[in-house]
Parts: sequence; structure tokens; C-alpha cells
Amino acid sequence: MKYQSRFFTSRNIGNIVKFIEPSVTLTIRSTPSFTSFFCRKFTDSGTNMDLSNMRKSYKSDQECFEEAQLTSLDPIKQFGSWFDQATKCPEVGEANAMCLATATKDGRPSARMVLLKGYSEEGFRFFTNYESRKGAELDCNPHACLVFYWEPLNRQIRIEGTVERIPYEISCDYFHSRPKSSQIGAVVSRQSTVIPSRQYLRDKNAELEEKYKDTNVPLPDYWGGYIVKPHLIEFWQGQTNRLHDRIVFLRPKEGETELGDMQHQAEVGWIYQRLSP
Ligand SMILES: Cc1cc2nc3c(=O)[nH]c(=O)nc-3n(C[C@H](O)[C@H](O)[C@H](O)COP(=O)(O)O)c2cc1C
Repeated sequence: MKYQSRFFTSRNIGNIVKFIEPSVTLTIRSTPSFTSFFCRKFTDSGTNMDLSNMRKSYKSDQECFEEAQLTSLDPIKQFGSWFDQATKCPEVGEANAMCLATATKDGRPSARMVLLKGYSEEGFRFFTNYESRKGAELDCNPHACLVFYWEPLNRQIRIEGTVERIPYEISCDYFHSRPKSSQIGAVVSRQSTVIPSRQYLRDKNAELEEKYKDTNVPLPDYWGGYIVKPHLIEFWQGQTNRLHDRIVFLRPKEGETELGDMQHQAEVGWIYQRLSP
């Protein structure tokens, strides 16, 4: 065991703090924990990190997220309201980046980031390679989960639903709306397959650039869009005192007409409830 303390003497800790995101306030309780935050313990290989003191301040209780503050009782509209705020927040780099979790038929999960490319009352759309790992998992298990995390706003949205391929024409239109280099990139990459080297991609890219230099790039049959049709949408607002707000919208199962205990009627067939954080 050795301590990575050489660079973090009390004299230069002030300088280090200047480089930390201004929106992030580290909760520093006492000198020992402060020191231990900056002097994390490392194993010789640097792989055993103690991050137990790493936390940031969220909002105060006065800024909590009450049911009365929902912009709409239609969760898609509520999503739209938070999404708009995220896109307008300069500290959010890519508001439409979301984590997509899929699973194999026997329930082994995998997750990765993808970009949201549209949403409507019907669901949330993204584009990818149908033969990728996620594509293969969605072929045998259509259940998926999306998570957005907008750190500067202390907000998370979780969406669970079933996934379907979107119509070919819509994928085709979107594919051809992208820059030609991206279209070629999508054709070049048989996503999630093993390749010998980066040079292999460069060569294939050059070959296709030449092939399609005067013509349109046809949409490959292994590329297109999916729509996640939601049956659950959860809005999470972080609070400093850890009494985070969680408001969950659910689509009742077929035949379920009675509201459960502490459930409330929302709009367009949804109900909502509050969860303990
Ligand atoms: C911010 C971000 C956005 C991404 N957007 C997409 C996307 O829209 N579609 C996509 O196929 N891959 C996207 N990727 C790459 C995926 O994370 C992933 O590497 C790729 O889709 C292969 O995943 P899979 O092997 O699990 O199928 C993105 C990665 C990042 C970091």
C-alpha cells in the first residue's frame, strides 16, 4: 500500500480545488476526511480506490420537487419539460445521451450509452446496428431500460419499456440526413464484432468512400432505429439531505382499473406514485 499524497500537500490543495467543477461542492467534514479524499489509498497497481468520502451537494429542501411542480401529468410532456431544461443548461454537454440497458434471454444485462434521436407519446427513438450486441439482445428479449443523468441539474430519468424496430422508411430518412462520412462509418462498422486493427477500419472506410464518391450510400439492412415504448417513467430529483424526490409514472396492466394505495390518476392512461429515495 502507498498513499498518493506527494502532489496533494496542504499548500497546493487550494489550487486543486480551483480545477473542480464550480457546481460541485465537496462535502468536507474534517481535516482527516479532507486529506483522505485527496490522498486516496492506492494499491501498487493503483486499482484499489477508496471513494467513500466523495460526495457532492444537491439541492436544499426548499428546492424539493413536489407533485405540484410537475409541468404535466402526462409523463412524456414532463420528460419534454426536463429535457428542454437540460438542453438549455450549458453545463450539460450532451442532453440526449442516455444509458441503454438490455439483457439476454436468460437475464444477463449489458448497458451502453446511445443518443436519443426523438420522442413522442409513442416512445423514445435511437439508432444503431441491428447486429450489435444490443441488437442481438433486443432480438431475443425486447425489454429495455433507458437512464438519463443530468448531473448539473441533479436529475435522473429512468424509462422502462418494450422495444420495437421502427419502420424502414424512417430509418432510411434519418440515415440519409446524416453527413455522408457518418453514413459510410455506419456501413464500415459491423458493430460489436472483433476486428484485427484500426488500420482495417481505415482501409475499409477508404474503399467505401471511393465506391460511393458519386452515389448515395444505401442504408445497410443491419442498421436502423428502435423505439422504446414506455410502461414506467421515473423522475428523480437529488436533494442535499438525501431525501431525494422520486415520482414514478406507470401504465396500469390490462384489466387493472382500481388505483392502488397511494397511487394517483395521471393523464393519457398513466397513474403516478411517490417512492422512498
Ligand atoms: C455519448 C455516446 C453516445 C453514443 N451514441 C450511440 C448511438 O446513438 N448509437 C450507437 O449505436 N452507439 C452509440 N454509442 C456507442 C455505444 O455506447 C456502444 O459502444 C455501441 O453502440 C456498441 O454497443 P454494444 O456492443 O453493446 O451493442 C455512443 C457512445 C457514447 C459514449
